[in-house]
Amino acid sequence: MTQFRLNGRSVTLTTPDDTPLLWAIRDEVGLTGTKFGCGIGACGACTVHVDGQAVRSCVTPVGSMAGLSVTTIEGLDPAGRHPVQQAWIETQAPQCGYCQSGQIMQAAALLKETPAPTDDQIVAAMEGNLCRCMAYVRIKRAIKLAASRTSAGRTSARQGAKA
Ligand code: FES
Ligand code: FES
Repeated sequence: MTQFRLNGRSVTLTTPDDTPLLWAIRDEVGLTGTKFGCGIGACGACTVHVDGQAVRSCVTPVGSMAGLSVTTIEGLDPAGRHPVQQAWIETQAPQCGYCQSGQIMQAAALLKETPAPTDDQIVAAMEGNLCRCMAYVRIKRAIKLAASRTSAGRTSARQGAKA
């Protein structure tokens, strides 16, 4: 039995501790936005946030989540209006969509840590998230659009605080 926070709410799961977090989220909780791709931590489809860091849920035992805070694509923004999600929609980044929740979670973690990433930083952060549809150009465009808004918002907030 493992107790942790999931998308802002306390949950207690009875899934055996060594079960991958991915399956606990999907099968016991019923949140299916987090996808299974490879099961070995090599594709990024299952990416969630654990205490704000991007984590591969397919290779993370649910028992190791005790006391931590997990966010899935469903909890990134209650209204689906996270800047990364909005940029994804505007740039029409997905093709089949299967990899996209993992891509969005990885990108959101990147922009939280690095609000105005360089191209090299985007490539380095996203290289573990594979897309069978080869939508990489649109994904990168979406990240840059979200970054332009996120970093601009922070700059104006700082300027407002100084005024
Ligand atoms: S399903 Fe987890 S990294 Fe591929
Ligand atoms: S959009 Fe199809 S796998 Fe990425």
